[in-house]
Amino acid sequence: MSSSEIADAAGVLRAGGLVAFPTETVYGLGANAEDAAAVGRVFAVKGRPPTHPLIVHIARADRLDDWAADVPEPARVLAERFWPGPLTLVLRRSPRIPDATTGGLETAAIRVPNHPVALALLSAFGGGVAAPSANRFGSVSPTTAAHVRAELGDAVDLVLDGGPCAVGVESTIVDVTGGEPTILRPGGVTREDLEAALDRPLAVPGSSSIRVPGQHPSHYAPRARVVLVAPDDVVVEAERAHDRGERVGVLLPPAVAGAGAEVKAHAVVAVPASTAAYAHRLYGFLREFDREGCDLVVASLPEEHGLGLAIANRLRRAAGPRPPA
Ligand code: TXA
Ligand code: MG
Repeated sequence: MSSSEIADAAGVLRAGGLVAFPTETVYGLGANAEDAAAVGRVFAVKGRPPTHPLIVHIARADRLDDWAADVPEPARVLAERFWPGPLTLVLRRSPRIPDATTGGLETAAIRVPNHPVALALLSAFGGGVAAPSANRFGSVSPTTAAHVRAELGDAVDLVLDGGPCAVGVESTIVDVTGGEPTILRPGGVTREDLEAALDRPLAVPGSSSIRVPGQHPSHYAPRARVVLVAPDDVVVEAERAHDRGERVGVLLPPAVAGAGAEVKAHAVVAVPASTAAYAHRLYGFLREFDREGCDLVVASLPEEHGLGLAIANRLRRAAGPRPPA
């Protein structure tokens, strides 16, 4: 990435345009966080309801006080330990962040991403960049520049290509506005690492309790329907659907793949045994099933510790009830 490309991108942001950029989690669709009109374009391009707040990306943890009205001690501890990195903190917002960015909430979600291109862009721009994942509302987040171009194309003024995202699932969102820090969305920083940093246990987000405002049950979803079954039932379930004439994509759990199972299905992916490798590739697998024209994806949940918590959360949401077409 040349410094003139970064300078051009910062210029696009200053002019109220949209820049898609890589982060370590997924690609973001960025606009000047203080420009309500530019932020409005982000919502329009994504097809996202305006009540769903955006994350404000900043270049440096030591500028957090410019963006948050109040920074409690646990927030300082987490920012110090995990930024730059896949952690988003929900804090009382500074008045400089407009309603358009926070969906009218008095809190704002803030993070310092850990990607050289994102950091170069944020430094060159100088302000905060409001960015959701650079996909249409409810669909699978992009982890390469090609995903962004395929999905948003000309609706974006500029796409910065920083290669595939290392983490592959979104940031962990922690609400630090109350007394007890609470995980709103599991993600790239594990619950175990947060607990170690804070030296106290954190509530595990329940599968049914959707705490982030305005989220649909179905999210992170490919076109294909997603069904979740126990690991031992994946093969039978897939073959049953295959025999009904469906085009089936299979995420074969490591234990089953390791046992050398043969599966009758349209597309079969052996899930990596390491959760980091699985998270890195999860959205790519789901996109691949869509490219293959699959009607159905059969998968099982990984164990819910470490990055497995975020993977399970995304798979549950992908399998959630779909809004009427
Ligand atoms: O890894 C990530 O977080 C990526 C990259 C681009 O940074 N971004 C991302 O943004 O996943 P998005 O818009 O797809 O998801 C942001 C989530 C939304 O579910 C939103 O509801 C929540 O953050 N959020 C934003 N502001 C909030 C607030 N003030 N309180 C609670 N939740 C908030
Ligand atoms: Mg998103």
